[in-house]
Amino acid sequence: MPRAERMSFPKELMVLDIGCGMPTMPDERRTVRAENIIGIDIREDSDAEIIADIRDGIPLENDKFDIVLIYQVLEHFTSVEVSNLLDDCIRVLKTGGEMWIQTPNLKWCAEAILEGKELFEHKVDGLSVMNSIYGEQIRQGNAHKWGYTVETLCGVLIDHGLEIILAEEYGGEANLDHKPDIFVKGRKI
Ligand SMILES: C[S@@+](CC[C@H](N)C(=O)[O-])C[C@H]1O[C@@H](n2cnc3c(N)ncnc32)[C@H](O)[C@@H]1O
Repeated sequence: MPRAERMSFPKELMVLDIGCGMPTMPDERRTVRAENIIGIDIREDSDAEIIADIRDGIPLENDKFDIVLIYQVLEHFTSVEVSNLLDDCIRVLKTGGEMWIQTPNLKWCAEAILEGKELFEHKVDGLSVMNSIYGEQIRQGNAHKWGYTVETLCGVLIDHGLEIILAEEYGGEANLDHKPDIFVKGRKI
């Protein structure tokens, strides 16, 4: 989802953007983010209101957020770290609150490999198959440690007690800008 859309949540919704990333433009830093949206990221030069390592826990109170966004982040953690992160995200979500997750689609990668596509050149929106599996690896810490299909991600969320309310792949309506990704929404019940 483009950053501009992420900023346009209604004011009454409290939104937490986990691993919110870098400002699109230098002068956008901390200026475009609405008060109801809190970003958290490990990088000092990120767009985040809170600079922290989320593997140490989310430093915020229980039952605070209507929506937790986790875009292009889960794949940077081991499966054990993800399990702990999801527990913590559920802790800060209100009952009925939603977790929105976007992550590379391992099935898209597998199909491209089986179809014999050129793995570095076959790109959708600039992402190659190898990037989707292993990460860009252009700096320390941005390799991928785990991968998901719609089915395995939904399974993990269900195991954590969430109800699946949306599960998309191959550029569904909410995911048109990233065809190699999956987009899943789970609700805290
Ligand atoms: C691929 S970027 C995604 C950025 C943004 N969510 C997006 O969709 O454009 C992954 C982000 O996760 C952050 N990140 C990685 N490990 C982290 C950690 N342990 N704690 C907090 N943030 C982390 C990185 O700094 C980076 O900004």
